[in-house]
Amino acid sequence: MSTTEPSSRIAGFHKLSIADRIDALARFADLDASDCALLGNTGNLAPDLADHLIENVVGTMNVPLGMATNMRIDGRDRLIPMATEESSVVAAVCNAARQCYDAGGFTTSMSGTLMIAQIQLSNVADPYQARVRILERRDEVQALCDACDPVLVKLGGGFRDLEVRVLETRGGTMVITHIVVDTRDAMGANAVNTMAERLAPEIARWTGGQTNLRILSNLADRRLARARCVWPVAAIGGDAVRDAMVSAYHFADADPYRAATHNKGIMNGISAVVLATGNDTRAVEAGAHAYAARGGRYASLTHWEVTASGDLAGSIELPMAVGLVGGATKLHPTARLSLKVLGVQSAQALARVIAAVGLAQNFSAMKALATTGIQKGHMALHSQNIAMMAGAVGAEIEQVARVLVERGTVRLDVAEAELTKLRAGAAA
Ligand code: MEV
Repeated sequence: MSTTEPSSRIAGFHKLSIADRIDALARFADLDASDCALLGNTGNLAPDLADHLIENVVGTMNVPLGMATNMRIDGRDRLIPMATEESSVVAAVCNAARQCYDAGGFTTSMSGTLMIAQIQLSNVADPYQARVRILERRDEVQALCDACDPVLVKLGGGFRDLEVRVLETRGGTMVITHIVVDTRDAMGANAVNTMAERLAPEIARWTGGQTNLRILSNLADRRLARARCVWPVAAIGGDAVRDAMVSAYHFADADPYRAATHNKGIMNGISAVVLATGNDTRAVEAGAHAYAARGGRYASLTHWEVTASGDLAGSIELPMAVGLVGGATKLHPTARLSLKVLGVQSAQALARVIAAVGLAQNFSAMKALATTGIQKGHMALHSQNIAMMAGAVGAEIEQVARVLVERGTVRLDVAEAELTKLRAGAAA
């Protein structure tokens, strides 16, 4: 028996074809023919395309795509594509939307499509002089930025503003330049990063300082998506349910431990739509959590209150840097299809829909938590996963899942025993 550990130093792995990479991987990880066949099946993402989206591709990772029903947003009915591996997430949006549909659904808005890029400058003798010197060059900065992306300018976007902050850090005083750019229907990372890189040497020259980082900020607080909605108290189960939900919000808004989970639930919905449309889930998540902490303490992304007529009103506001052009949004066939289903014509429209989904998600999570608890509904769906993990197929999945729920023990060992019993019964 060989004791030699396989080496992760595989020279030129990136240059290999997908098939050759799978072979190399099979040798490294002792994969068998069925493992390799699994990797070779890339589903509805062509291997060639996958190979160009990221590096060292050996396969694809499929995630279920569900459609949330019942959503009425700004007077228009929409089906919402959601890509997620988590059970209950799509159902949560459907349920929340059903309970406010007759009352008109969601109203949304957006602050704009402005992205910020930052340029870090240090080792400046006179930071406040440097700040003003940079601000004096606004027209020059605008010309330099806009020259980087004439197409964006033609589409009505481009440079909008220049801001310079003096920042005290552990490493001394820094001068941080923000360029504010309207990126229109693009998420805009490439556009603003190019501008920041172009501008950095000029800033160094104008100030005598040293530039370092040149990169967008994911705290996209000039690109805020907003949604609001009123759930009639009669539609949600009465005053007690409403008050318990508002109390749940008060808890989240006051306590970062609870707010993290509360906002995670919101992001369950948001990230699922962001992913389904081929947008950058991490960018949106980073922006959301940074925005939630903007007051110096991490708090709820939503607000819940009782209207004069006693109904439950929810609202949400968060950065939403998503686009319709560029990257996977245009290239991934499922992302293109999701955008077609959504029928959105602009990045703003997409961002607004996503904010409404986040609010809906939060409504359902709070309602479940403040009433029956999360496990009842969750376990009903989770029991099917457990049944499949136990080896159930076809009709067996429902049968085993039902027994797990009836018994109130959604456990793998119980599922396995139940499946054995079921199959023995069928064979007898
Ligand atoms: C689970 O993925 C999300 C929840 O924990 C959200 C919440 O607690 O509000 C249910």
